[in-house]
Amino acid sequence: MTGHGTPAVRRATPGDADALAGLARDTFVETFGHLYRPADLAAFLAKSQSVAAYAPLLEDPRVAVWVAEGASGALVGFLNAGPCKLPLPEPEPNAGEIRQLYLRSSVQGGGLGTRMLVTGLEWLAAQGHYPLYVGVWSGNFGAQRLYGRFGFEKVGEYDFPVGEHLDREFILRRRTIPPPVPGGS
Ligand SMILES: CC(C)(COP(=O)(O)OP(=O)(O)OC[C@H]1O[C@@H](n2cnc3c(N)ncnc32)[C@H](O)[C@@H]1OP(=O)(O)O)[C@@H](O)C(=O)NCCC(=O)NCCS
Repeated sequence: MTGHGTPAVRRATPGDADALAGLARDTFVETFGHLYRPADLAAFLAKSQSVAAYAPLLEDPRVAVWVAEGASGALVGFLNAGPCKLPLPEPEPNAGEIRQLYLRSSVQGGGLGTRMLVTGLEWLAAQGHYPLYVGVWSGNFGAQRLYGRFGFEKVGEYDFPVGEHLDREFILRRRTIPPPVPGGS
């Protein structure tokens, strides 16, 4: 937390793996848990929102994870960014992706998500990633509005498995000017 009661945002370290996996589980259940059969949700959480899934990300220099810390030091939000892993028909070699952005409901709507998104987008650009993508559930209109304000527009769709359930996901790409080519005129 900062001195003004605003959650502090910092890069995650390998020591955050347990807390990050717990936060990922909690925020996924808070946001989307009602959409799935219990068996599908349990299978997804065990495989994808686990310490085994997050620990390698925190050691991977191609990936960056930021966490927001609340008053008690507990994690209240995270953002995960890196090379694009979305199923694009013709992926650009340097495409980057905002892979996950999740806040606990208690801290939503106060500008923290926007702040973390700016941090992630700036980092991806500084790593030379272009263009930038994000995947978002087709029914997540709030997040789609947020990404739309940052110039993201829909360029495709795919099915994202949650257990045996398939979610329809939109693929959004950011409308931005390409970075200058080194040595180019
Ligand atoms: C989406 C999210 C990261 C935005 O962060 P935030 O701090 O709440 O948002 P900010 O205060 O910076 O900006 C507000 C905008 O965020 C979006 N937003 C706000 N609350 C939201 C919610 N509960 N769910 C989805 N989007 C939300 C809206 O676009 C909102 O602006 P609008 O009401 O004018 O359309 C955050 O609400 C969240 O974690 N939601 C649940 C998880 C989620 O949907 N993640 C995105 C997966 S792709």
